[in-house]
Amino acid sequence: MSVHQNTPLKKITTHRLLEMKQRGEKIAMITAYDYSMARLIDATGIDIILVGDSASNVMAGNDTTLPMSLEHMIYHASSVVKAVKRALVVVDMPFGTYQGNSRLALESAIRIMKEAGAHAVKMEGGAEIKESVLRILTAGIPVMGHLGLMPQSIYKFGTYSVRAQEEVEAQKLLDDALLLQECGCFGIVLEKIPAEFAKTVSESLLIPTVGIGAGMHTDGQVLVVHDLLGINNEFSPRFLRRYADLHSVITDAVQNYVTDVKNKDFPNEKECY
Ligand code: KIV
Repeated sequence: MSVHQNTPLKKITTHRLLEMKQRGEKIAMITAYDYSMARLIDATGIDIILVGDSASNVMAGNDTTLPMSLEHMIYHASSVVKAVKRALVVVDMPFGTYQGNSRLALESAIRIMKEAGAHAVKMEGGAEIKESVLRILTAGIPVMGHLGLMPQSIYKFGTYSVRAQEEVEAQKLLDDALLLQECGCFGIVLEKIPAEFAKTVSESLLIPTVGIGAGMHTDGQVLVVHDLLGINNEFSPRFLRRYADLHSVITDAVQNYVTDVKNKDFPNEKECY
C-alpha cells in the first residue's frame, strides 16, 4: 500500500524541510528523470525528487554530466513534474547555464521553473557562484546548493574520489556552506566527503544537508534511482546500498520474452483478438 493511501496529501515545501531538520526527522531524496518512475517514487512518500544532471550518465550514456543542456533538463523535469503530487521537485541547473554569468543564470532558472514547472533548482559551487545564486533567489526561486564532489567540475578535480580530506579544502567547503545559507539557500547536497566532517558541516547549519557518500550524520540522504534499484550492476561505490536487483529482474524478463517469441509461445490464443 502506498503512503498516499494512508496519509493525507501534504505537499513538501522548503519550509517543511527546515522543520524536519529542526525536529530531527531525516529527509529522503532520490533522483528521477521520467514520468513513470517519478509516479512510482512520489507515491512512496519520498520528500524530494531530484531531476539530476546524472541523467547524462544513466539516461544518455555519457561519461560525465557536462553534456547536459538546459533543453535536456527541461524535457526530463517536465515529465517528472507531471507525475508528482507530493514531493518537492528540485532540478539541476546544467553545466554552462549559471557559472560566471548571473544574468544567464537567472534566465536559465526561470526557464526551468516556467517550462518544466519545477519547484526549485540545484547548483554546484560556493563563493564562485554567489552572484548567480543571489540573483536567482531574488527572483523568488528556491535554490539548493551542492558542495563536496561536484561532478560538473570533474575535469578540475581529475577524480571522483572523496573530497575535503585536506584542511584547506574542508575549510573552504564549510565557508561555502555558511555562505550559501546566508544567501538564502534552503538546503545543501554534500557529496562524497568524510562522515565526521559532514557532521560538522550539518551541525554548523540551520538549513538541512542531504548527503550522498557523506555518512549518516547529514539531515537527509540522496541516491541515484538507477543505482538504488540495481539497474546498473557495474557501479558499486562503497556508499551505495542496493535495494533491488533490477538488472537481473529485467534481464530475466526480457530473456523469457525473447524465448517465448522465438518458440512461438507468445502470443497464445488468449492474448489474441
Ligand atoms: O545529478 C545528480 O543525480 C546529483 C545527485 C548525485 C545528488 O546531483
